[in-house]
Amino acid sequence: MRPPAIAIDGPAASGKSTVAKRIAQELGYTFIGTGAMYRAVTWYLLQQGINPQNTSAVVAALPGIPLSFGKDGAFSTVVYEGRVLTTELTEKATNDNVSVVAAIPEVRALLVEKQREYNKREAVVMEGRDIGTVVFPDSRFKYFVTASEEVRAARRAAEGITDSIAERDKKDAQRACAPLVQAEDALLVDTSDMSIDEVVNFIVADIRSKLA
Ligand code: DC
Repeated sequence: MRPPAIAIDGPAASGKSTVAKRIAQELGYTFIGTGAMYRAVTWYLLQQGINPQNTSAVVAALPGIPLSFGKDGAFSTVVYEGRVLTTELTEKATNDNVSVVAAIPEVRALLVEKQREYNKREAVVMEGRDIGTVVFPDSRFKYFVTASEEVRAARRAAEGITDSIAERDKKDAQRACAPLVQAEDALLVDTSDMSIDEVVNFIVADIRSKLA
């Protein structure tokens, strides 16, 4: 039997990444941030002077893409030329182009395969947009974490990140391939008026009750 895969999906700045990391720590599972994988591909393409709008050029670049998706302790990492990518992933150019790259079916197919590989050997808490709908549709543990648009904008500003999240969410929700949508069997968690502890405790309690 495959180890458990906890799917945490939701829009940008809903708090899902913070929450997913904490849930992984509580359960002793590995945290996998899939947004970083889409961001790394986007950063790499821009670095190579490939226009993300040029779908055939993007698809042609994918087979030899020199990114490795591994982990450092209990957290997923993306490594390029021997170093873990960090600030590159939240550069303005990366933010501005990631939704275009993430809409390309060939990009998604490649990354979904890498995401499933993580769960072959270990239990994971995986955070993204399509984890419950596409990556692990048979998971018993699916959570759709959201918050009001005002709360999400305020959280992003507090992190010092200027990014038009509303526009990005719109693109992510409207794309044809694996759009941002709540899985039918996912539990909706609106975090607008909840503390991080409350959200973590609520989801961990639900997971534990299902594992018992
Ligand atoms: O979670 P994030 O903001 O770092 O994600 C960056 C972008 O990557 C997001 O705008 C849409 C895309 N993404 C996706 O399409 N599917 C995922 N599973 C994760 C992220």
